[in-house]
Amino acid sequence: MPGDNAKKALIDSMNGLLADYFTLYLKTKNYHWHVAGPQFRDLHLMFDEQAAELFALTDIIAERVRKNGGDTLTGIGAIAGKASIKDDDRSKLDAMEMVRNLRDDNVALVKTIRAVKEAATEAGDNATEGMADDWTDQAEQRAWFLTQTLA
Ligand SMILES: [Fe+2]
Repeated sequence: MPGDNAKKALIDSMNGLLADYFTLYLKTKNYHWHVAGPQFRDLHLMFDEQAAELFALTDIIAERVRKNGGDTLTGIGAIAGKASIKDDDRSKLDAMEMVRNLRDDNVALVKTIRAVKEAATEAGDNATEGMADDWTDQAEQRAWFLTQTLA
């Protein structure tokens, strides 16, 4: 049977992942709101699609934490304390820099999801372990779209 330590490690890693989803959601929205330039329409719409996808997973991840018996994030301060993805508070940056930043963040997210999956395996949480593959595919799809936009 998996021990309490494995469960605690899983809850901690899932809360970190959740903080990254919230952070990347808001960063993607920041770029959605402030992007400018010849590709405005495409980027404005792509960023919104990606933000919606990120936000849709936040409730699912938070409830996986609760189903594992843990407390999850409670507010903006808790998100800031747990996130590994960095905010970008600039409103005027080059559109391609926005695309590159989000590409790098989504690639980093894939690694964080992999760590959650490993923690889920350790803790015997089959549901999270299985769902993590879908989260990875979504993050890789976002990274792919962003990468192709840079090419
Ligand atoms: Fe909008």
